[in-house]
Amino acid sequence: ARAGREPGTDAGEVLLSPEDYETAARARLDRAVYDFIAGGSGDEVTLRGERAAYDRYRLRPRTLVDVSHCDPGTTLLGSPVSFPVGVAPMAYHRLVDAEGETATVRAAGAVGALTVTSTFASRTIEETARAASGPLWLQLYVLRERKVTESLVRRAEAAGYRALVITVDAPRMARRERDLRNGFSLPPHIRPVNLDDGQSGGLHGSRAGSSTLAEHAARHHDAAFTWQDLAWLRSLTSLPLVLKGVLTGQDARQAAELGVEGLIVSTHGGRQLDGAIAALDALPEVVAAVPETCEVLVDGGIRRGTDVLKALALGARGVLVGRPVLWGLAVDGAAGAERVLATLRAELTDAMALTGRPALDAIAPDLLHLSPAAT
Ligand code: FNR
Repeated sequence: ARAGREPGTDAGEVLLSPEDYETAARARLDRAVYDFIAGGSGDEVTLRGERAAYDRYRLRPRTLVDVSHCDPGTTLLGSPVSFPVGVAPMAYHRLVDAEGETATVRAAGAVGALTVTSTFASRTIEETARAASGPLWLQLYVLRERKVTESLVRRAEAAGYRALVITVDAPRMARRERDLRNGFSLPPHIRPVNLDDGQSGGLHGSRAGSSTLAEHAARHHDAAFTWQDLAWLRSLTSLPLVLKGVLTGQDARQAAELGVEGLIVSTHGGRQLDGAIAALDALPEVVAAVPETCEVLVDGGIRRGTDVLKALALGARGVLVGRPVLWGLAVDGAAGAERVLATLRAELTDAMALTGRPALDAIAPDLLHLSPAAT
């Protein structure tokens, strides 16, 4: 097995950072696939804002603390993980790698990380579960056809998924101009294998000026889904529920009152409401609004171990990482995705040592300095 910290190489180049992997992936992927992954909605203001939010914070290290053992291990909704970083749900991993989601989940398992798989996975719920050795959560888009949602819930329960993540920031898909310009559609061999034929058609056949994914979402996502319907979902299953895409204290409170066990503060990686507040900036308000038993995660723009530290300092229990995992997968399959995750784990441990915080419970807001000059 490859050592986690061993650098990957690409045509003689040493790949270290997520940016290195992105550059290497970009050289390999079709332009339309690269743009689909990298891009955001509208003017991509929120996409850029996600990164900028992390860079505004600087760290206030303590010294002369015994940091000979730094342990980033914890639990997420009761499942042990070797560090509080999971793989964000992303559609169609087979766009970048022949194996797809089963490779990603093996990579996450190898480093003891959580994986959240998408409703729009290109491998089945069951195949992914068989390949997993770490905890698995299933992300659900609520579809108009409630029977389809219900059957996905039952399959997740049967396959041993430990939580359901309901994405609430996509009642419709935002305009993503890169995809529209490229006429983005799925290649013929890739389809949403977890949906019935009735919900999986119409995703192929490229036309400039349109995205078949956006058209598919317009037909099948249930834009009338509300808090009352969430109560229906709550009554359907005893699996923990997590809402993904919450950005306000009001929504967080309402979710917790309905018995939701977890929240993911997220702008969908800048792919939905352009102009939305950065997830990191929304995090403290969300954390303050819910009881401690409700676990709050955050995603969007996390690229370094120090970013993870900053999110934890603002009250996150853990974080999810999206695009960097797909860049790793594109460059070198499961091994590439594993190296991206293992590097984040190593960087987090370094950052804990260098800030004098050898345990996660020592990470608090006093670690941070908000630096207006750094914007
Ligand atoms: C996503 N995201 C996403 N979210 C979700 O709930 N269901 C999904 O199917 C997808 N699909 C998807 C595809 C691709 C290509 C990307 C890049 C993202 C959003 C994802 O879960 C996450 O919120 C962001 O990707 C996090 O931001 P970073 O880490 O990519 O900056």
